[in-house]
Amino acid sequence: MKAEFALLAWFMRRCIRQPGRTVTTGRGRRFPPPKDLPARKLCPSKDMEGQCPQEANGSHPEQSEERLPTSDLAMDAGSCAGPVQTGETVIAEGKAKIIFPSANEVFYNPVQEFNRDLTCAVITEFIRLQLSAKGIQIAVPGEEKVEKVVVDLSEGEEAGSEPAPDEEGAARAVAAVGEVCKEGVRILEALAASGLRSIRFAKEVPGLRAVVANDFSSKAVELMARNVEFNGVGHLVTSSLADARMLMYQQKAEKHPFDIIDLDPYGSPATFLDAAVQAVSEGGLLCVTCTDMAVMAGNSGETCYSKYGAMSIKGKFCHEMALRIILHSLDLRANCYQRYIVPLLAVSADFYIRVFVRVFTGQATVKASASKQALVYNCVGCGTHHFQRLGKMTSHGSNFKYSAASGPPVGPSCEHCHQRHQVSPPAPPGAPRSRTAGHAALTCCSLPQLGGPMWAEPLHDPAFVQRVLSALGSNPGRFGTQDRIQGVLSMVTEELSDVPLYYTLDCLSSTIHCNTPSLLQFRSALLHAGYRVSLSHACKNAIKTDAPPSVLWDIMRCWERLHPVKRERLSDTSPAFHILSVEPTLQASFTVREDANPKSRKQGLKRFQENPEAYWGPKARAKAGGGISTSLQDKRKLHQNKRKERAEDGGHLKNIPCKRLKEVRTGWGGCESGGGSGGQRCGSSWPRCGCNTP
Ligand SMILES: C[S@@+](CC[C@H](N)C(=O)[O-])C[C@H]1O[C@@H](n2cnc3c(N)ncnc32)[C@H](O)[C@@H]1O
Ligand SMILES: [Zn+2]
Repeated sequence: MKAEFALLAWFMRRCIRQPGRTVTTGRGRRFPPPKDLPARKLCPSKDMEGQCPQEANGSHPEQSEERLPTSDLAMDAGSCAGPVQTGETVIAEGKAKIIFPSANEVFYNPVQEFNRDLTCAVITEFIRLQLSAKGIQIAVPGEEKVEKVVVDLSEGEEAGSEPAPDEEGAARAVAAVGEVCKEGVRILEALAASGLRSIRFAKEVPGLRAVVANDFSSKAVELMARNVEFNGVGHLVTSSLADARMLMYQQKAEKHPFDIIDLDPYGSPATFLDAAVQAVSEGGLLCVTCTDMAVMAGNSGETCYSKYGAMSIKGKFCHEMALRIILHSLDLRANCYQRYIVPLLAVSADFYIRVFVRVFTGQATVKASASKQALVYNCVGCGTHHFQRLGKMTSHGSNFKYSAASGPPVGPSCEHCHQRHQVSPPAPPGAPRSRTAGHAALTCCSLPQLGGPMWAEPLHDPAFVQRVLSALGSNPGRFGTQDRIQGVLSMVTEELSDVPLYYTLDCLSSTIHCNTPSLLQFRSALLHAGYRVSLSHACKNAIKTDAPPSVLWDIMRCWERLHPVKRERLSDTSPAFHILSVEPTLQASFTVREDANPKSRKQGLKRFQENPEAYWGPKARAKAGGGISTSLQDKRKLHQNKRKERAEDGGHLKNIPCKRLKEVRTGWGGCESGGGSGGQRCGSSWPRCGCNTP
């Protein structure tokens, strides 16, 4: 460990002390320092094909430039690129057109168009805010015309001087798409693959000073440089071949931070977070994707801890919890450097999550970070959850006092279903897995019950999200996935911001084995009882509410009185038995109220994704030497719809005894151990079924 640290320190000293030098790592890969990026120019076509057509006829724009040996791959987009070659395809997304080699050597996932569209929409509004503070307006194509076009920000003396607002306070200077704006933002796409995202920024987002598109795969950088040229954005986008971490550490060391850093890795971004929270400018924006959802959604809590410093759990709320885990991790890492995060937007979509956070510096605010995080106690019997903040912040006038929080918020067993809160001891090898220690009747999957710490403060800045929505509303058709963005963001604005996580209707009803009330009936019951309620963009059936769990169970008890379950079939140790043995103290009314139907639902907005193509999901990694493994795709073809086929024939599943219910289950009818009333999943929830063990 010590030796590794010494090696890293040596490497960093070399990078920092000798900025013009190309450094070779132990793995033999060459990393040109980022300061060289705009200075050194090289024809990528020549590099790749050996001969540049423009060079042959003497028209090469960089013929006078210093030439590097061909193995140095710090390429600049101003150089030439060959035309699309045989076997290559051109893919259009947004305003970009991307050349892809037939061999699939570089990563591209069309399903992530929503991610890229959303990012363009968010950074446009971020830039609008940043530049309006400097008196500059941005001109977004499709939006109503900006009237006062006064200076061209890309050229001349006057471009650098700060334009004064006129009498009405309206900005005078205008930054347009595709032009360099000297006062604009500098973006790093740290893991850029084909460069598609960076090129889209250059062609669709105004107010940019520069975009650095970086990747450590030489194949990717070669392709990226060609794509930059192909799209004519060489004046804005620079390709870079470097390890993303080294690039970010070096830019931080050189006091040259980025205003926006985009991290879109394979799987987990964990290894890039430390560098990213340091290399982003004051108040700058980090855009982070995680596609390691199995880990973040509770399939491997210990792996989640090693990456993010938090235990994930398999609750129904796992997708929102994943958002809160990455936010916790970002804040914690920022805290090391007296910095902290302010989330603008956090979205769970398809097979990934995407968060947009600003990073600020401030010792006093960092002190509040512990009180923004919470542990989650999740009852595996009935899904009731409680939060334990890690710290306490109390105000004394204008001063704050920070102390340890008091707790725990729960006793050793759940007050509703009487199951224990402690994690079961590991079962001896070969023994049936027991859900809760001391409750032998509940043999099912063993789930961790203490999760977190996670970010327990709001996930979004509603005012900012509203700005993004308004901009989209005034610019219909700006993005391919605009309908979905508007649907998801509308839901986001409706979410109760002060209520972490949620329950799901199917989980509540399957816990007591009764049929499910309609969403409107249940929401009405909460509203009649005087509580607030919202949906969540992260889960179709979610119920977010400030009602305490005792009220939720009382409502379910009232519902069960109207739709009785067969009590004689319930085991007397089951959660259903304990919950239904108690008389409700509240008389729930299920009369549907007008305000129970949220606006986004009433308007029929597109809020959740339909399958965009067959066998969709995260794409496989590009291989080191180029090429993408097809094994993932093959596996998907093999396994997708397996359950559907099974459900159709169903015969082999009949007569599997479910020990939880102590009855013979028929078919794949949904295990009530945690809420799969839809019939497709057991209570262990997406992404994996874990409890169909006989
Ligand atoms: C999921 S792809 C990026 C996709 C791209 N952002 C897009 O929107 O199409 C991840 C990329 O990260 C690159 N990568 C992985 N580790 C890296 C590192 N340490 N430094 C730089 N690039 C890295 C891979 O070569 C790959 O091209
Ligand atoms: Zn319980």
